[in-house]
Amino acid sequence: MTLVPRPGGGARCLVGGRRGEGSRSAFELRDGELYAEGVPLATIAERYGTPCYVYSRAALEGAWRALDAALAGVPHLLCYAMKANANLAVLDVFARLGSGFDIVSGGELARVVAAGGDPGRTVFSGVGKSAAEMRQALDAGILCFNVESAAELERLDAVARERGRVAPVSFRVNPDVDPKTHPYISTGLKESKFGIAYGDALPLYRQARAMRGIAIRGIDIHIGSQITDLAPYREAARKVLDLVDRLAGEGIRLDHVDLGGGLGIRYRDEAPLPVAEYAAMLRGLFAGRAEKLVLEPGRWLVADAGVLLTRVEYLKPGPAKHFAIVDAAMNDLLRPALYDAWHGVDPVRPRSGPGTRWEIVGPVCESADFLAHDRVLDLAPGDLLAVRAAGAYAMAMSSNYNARPRAAEVMVDGDRAHLVRRRETAAELHAAESTLPR
Ligand code: LLP
Repeated sequence: MTLVPRPGGGARCLVGGRRGEGSRSAFELRDGELYAEGVPLATIAERYGTPCYVYSRAALEGAWRALDAALAGVPHLLCYAMKANANLAVLDVFARLGSGFDIVSGGELARVVAAGGDPGRTVFSGVGKSAAEMRQALDAGILCFNVESAAELERLDAVARERGRVAPVSFRVNPDVDPKTHPYISTGLKESKFGIAYGDALPLYRQARAMRGIAIRGIDIHIGSQITDLAPYREAARKVLDLVDRLAGEGIRLDHVDLGGGLGIRYRDEAPLPVAEYAAMLRGLFAGRAEKLVLEPGRWLVADAGVLLTRVEYLKPGPAKHFAIVDAAMNDLLRPALYDAWHGVDPVRPRSGPGTRWEIVGPVCESADFLAHDRVLDLAPGDLLAVRAAGAYAMAMSSNYNARPRAAEVMVDGDRAHLVRRRETAAELHAAESTLPR
């Protein structure tokens, strides 16, 4: 819980900005305009321009602390899945809380180090780790490699021995459980490219035990993302704990069990899993067990801690549809185009008129370039809009398509706003390129 000063004095409580958890959002209307904590979004737009991602430090801290506190009594480590938002300031906020990190590339490891995070609390996921990434992670002293195939295990053993090191290893097992989420973000079904088939796990642990470059540390799963149902989590966790017990029966004892990430949030009308229920399930499963619990939450920690601030450039009423053309686009927020995802869109200074049904679209030359369909809003050119739940998988999945410089990122901390990534310049976009010799 963080105390945030109000401009007019006094203080109010912000608990992670989690909508649907009975707490307040970090982005609230105050005197007819949207604020980020104690700073009007309009002030941020004036100072840093649009489009711009705005994050709330209090919301980031509140979410992390809420999950950590819910697991009190269960020895655990939260490894923030930084693919959701890898801005150094976001990593710094979590690192200061003592968070671990879940990485999927050497680039992400470099960011953990740059932000002051602890490689010793970092797990390395992903199906395609290169030998160079393995060397980098071994030298940094990460907590664990989450190995996803027999071929990867062999490469890791060879790389570790060649470096005179021993690689700490967990196997990512595919529990073949349907998380009942969007097919693009389901990862634990047997058709999936991720993990090792459940039936192959025991033989692989036996093989790994004999390898000089490998030290067995744990087991891990990740069944998917934006999960709102407890049942698949429970089923997958039971399956994996069953394996842990069978391994122990063969004398292979694990230090930790990593149940991955995937906790869903409310974008529109989903009913997210109350964190207390999720934690109660985990408490039940881990009662009396020796292994430490590791989790890899991404979206749940950051999504509601951010908005994408954008300005209406033009209104273009049409015969079939009315378009509100804004200065943010699919290159800034790909989720609607890629998954048909729904994000809330709120005017920064709402008007009280009846409104018109708008398609909220960007300037990119693609029909899929939309941020939202069918939103009834009372808009005028120049208006500012806040696209909600843009703390996760927004900037992280952005691109320079159409030679668009990537947007600025701002972190609000109480009544101060900090530019934590300045807007790219057009010249920077082609600085690494060259034309052919004349
Ligand atoms: N651990 C592993 C091994 C993962 O692959 C992921 C996400 C996470 C943890 C974190 O999952 P979370 O808690 O954020 O659900 N771009 C998609 C989401 C892709 C998730 C990929 N893996 C989206 O925008 O919905």
